[in-house]
Amino acid sequence: MGPPTLDDVSVEGATVGVRVDINSPLDESGRLGDDARLRAHVGTLSELLDRGAKVAVLAHQGRPGGDEFAPLGDHAERLDDMLDHPVSYTDATFSADARGAIEDLSPGEAILLENTRFYSEEYMELPSEEAARTFLVERLAPVLDAFVNDAFAAAHRSQPSLVGFPRHLPSYAGRVMERELDVLGAIEETPRPRVYALGGAKIADALDVATSVLERDLADAVLTSGMAGNAFLAADGVDVGRATVDPILDRDATAIEDAGELLEAYRGKFHLPSDVAVERGGERIELSVSELPAGEPALDVGSATVAAYADVLDDAGTVILNGPAGVYEDDRFAAGTRGIYGAAAETDTSIVGGGDTAAALRRLGIEGFDHVSTGGGAALQMLTGGELPAVEVLRRCA
Ligand code: 3PG
Repeated sequence: MGPPTLDDVSVEGATVGVRVDINSPLDESGRLGDDARLRAHVGTLSELLDRGAKVAVLAHQGRPGGDEFAPLGDHAERLDDMLDHPVSYTDATFSADARGAIEDLSPGEAILLENTRFYSEEYMELPSEEAARTFLVERLAPVLDAFVNDAFAAAHRSQPSLVGFPRHLPSYAGRVMERELDVLGAIEETPRPRVYALGGAKIADALDVATSVLERDLADAVLTSGMAGNAFLAADGVDVGRATVDPILDRDATAIEDAGELLEAYRGKFHLPSDVAVERGGERIELSVSELPAGEPALDVGSATVAAYADVLDDAGTVILNGPAGVYEDDRFAAGTRGIYGAAAETDTSIVGGGDTAAALRRLGIEGFDHVSTGGGAALQMLTGGELPAVEVLRRCA
């Protein structure tokens, strides 16, 4: 059973804490870059504000010590532009100032509190009962009447702002969370044939998804591309060349061996690239697998592979995609991602994992999917059948 949602609560005049995930790429000057995650939460925030709630928004940005660890002033300005209701900002999260600012809100007003990860306790993964005893949660809960978790993209973390409040307050899934759980939680019911198109540079992720969905008999076909596709080619005995193999082994020493075991167990389900693209003399050159090894690394799948995968997708009832098919950031090597994702968008039911994959689609301007997840790690956890701690604690509120 799903967690309670905004349909189950009356928020008029109530002060609602809303955890969102607006963790976003920053540009070279440290300003907010891609604002897709902010746009995703506009529905939930607008609905609460339209319904007369006073909204205190909690969010993180980056990781301590990382380049993208930053305050949320820019995010607040952008949310203020996006919403028809005022959104203010305070550079405090749970201090007396922050609590005072929350108490000063009028119905229909929101405030974005400072980056939760500026406080070390937020960076610990804790059981919910311990998370409920952190300063952040204990100090904020008394000024809130309810908690809404809309941060699907962070739901695989059991950090205080994600799992602590439901122990103190009536708690609900926001609209982003609700939709993600509805779609990613019901893949087993989507029409067959069900095709998984797995690519990207995170080979371990592709292998984990493939293993999980094949073991659970969820996949009728697995189309491999990207570095993961190269690993499968090598595992299949193709001499792809050191320039392609070395980066795979640098990332994951057992990737080729693991891919080999999967191929052996589920040979009939796998589709491997029949051609690849390399850079030669500054140009994209396509080589059929029989022309390998090449001195250059394989940076994309070739057009014969795209055509063969498009044929498989033509007959598919559902496609689930995770990971780009090549180094799409370089336009010469974006054709595989464009071709495979373009064909997938035509399928009856098309579901796309978040993170790098969603970023690739935005950059290439490919649209038309039934669902593009907001979550990278969280979507992956659901695709591999895992539980999300922040959702489990919400479910207990049902
Ligand atoms: C994400 O971008 O995947 C989420 O915001 C979680 O971020 P994290 O991996 O730093 O916890």
